[in-house]
Amino acid sequence: MTRRTALKIMGSAALTAMMATTGVTALTSCLESRKKRVILYFTGTGNCLYVARELAGKEGETLSIPQLMRKKQFEIEADEIGLVYPIYGHMPPYMVREFIKKARLKAEYKFAVLTYGMRKCNAVEIWDGISRKAGNAFDYIGTIIMVDNWLPNFDMNEQKKIDKHIPENLAKISSDLTGRRRWHEPVTQEERQQHEGFMRLSGLDPEVGFLMKAEKSFTVTDACIDCGICTYVCPRGNYELTGQGVKMQGNCEFCFACIQNCPQRAIQFKKHEDGTWPDGSEKNPNARYRNENVSLMDLKMANNQKV
Ligand SMILES: Cc1cc2nc3c(=O)[nH]c(=O)nc-3n(C[C@H](O)[C@H](O)[C@H](O)COP(=O)(O)O)c2cc1C
Ligand code: SF4
Ligand code: SF4
Repeated sequence: MTRRTALKIMGSAALTAMMATTGVTALTSCLESRKKRVILYFTGTGNCLYVARELAGKEGETLSIPQLMRKKQFEIEADEIGLVYPIYGHMPPYMVREFIKKARLKAEYKFAVLTYGMRKCNAVEIWDGISRKAGNAFDYIGTIIMVDNWLPNFDMNEQKKIDKHIPENLAKISSDLTGRRRWHEPVTQEERQQHEGFMRLSGLDPEVGFLMKAEKSFTVTDACIDCGICTYVCPRGNYELTGQGVKMQGNCEFCFACIQNCPQRAIQFKKHEDGTWPDGSEKNPNARYRNENVSLMDLKMANNQKV
């Protein structure tokens, strides 16, 4: 057995055992029992998983949207259902759009918490529009500022140093939720205009947001050691270990779970010279980020598409 095959089997066995003990494989039975608070989340670098866990508390349950999508579990019933996602260009990740269109969320109280890094613009209104259209309107929509993991513009080492008052802001949201506050965070006209400006510059389709092609966005360098981490943390299962090294292709959320978690920094942006946005440049190719409260195994379990 080659070292690469042995590592692959060991990684897969450990993850399977872990998913069994933490109940991820028993998702169906979890959904059947009525829980007080269930929080659905999408995460690339752990901020949303952290927020979801904090808001779920000891009694609540967190469910990963990539796992729900993989298992085609769209019917969820609880007293309170929460949804936590990172804003991408002030919009939800594409997978969250796909999920909400298919979901039937039955709860007395539904809340959404959107994480962001610097500029939220009218993210709250965008989510209200999308979720309402899908027949899943939310009673409460708020935002929370975290580390900004947008590698093209931000140095992760600098971002980690900024105090964004996360515990205080989380406590405020938590108290709103305990009181079942019915509220949408207000949006200003200036924020709406900033979003319009961003959409014009980026050329993104407002009905899609960020949906890239992995093979056009990233490349894997010779620094790769075939550890397989990228094959587990990608919520779209775009990476594969082959006899010729790592291959990646497919629709990409641009969540950066792969590039941020590669221990060798072997995953790099592909440079685009043809005016395509983003052009593949980044602020600091040596700085990478995963939320300090979230382990690599947590992220693998949240996003893995193989088990
Ligand atoms: C593709 C992409 C687009 C982003 N767009 C925005 C944005 O428009 N405004 C903002 O403040 N942060 C933006 N961010 C930062 C993330 O929303 C933020 O870091 C989030 O907390 C990451 O959550 P996660 O760790 O659960 O993936 C973006 C990040 C990515 C990867
Ligand atoms: S690209 Fe990085 S994460 Fe993926 S197998 Fe290679 S070293 Fe591991
Ligand atoms: S290829 Fe990377 S950026 Fe794209 S969905 Fe997978 S982990 Fe996210």
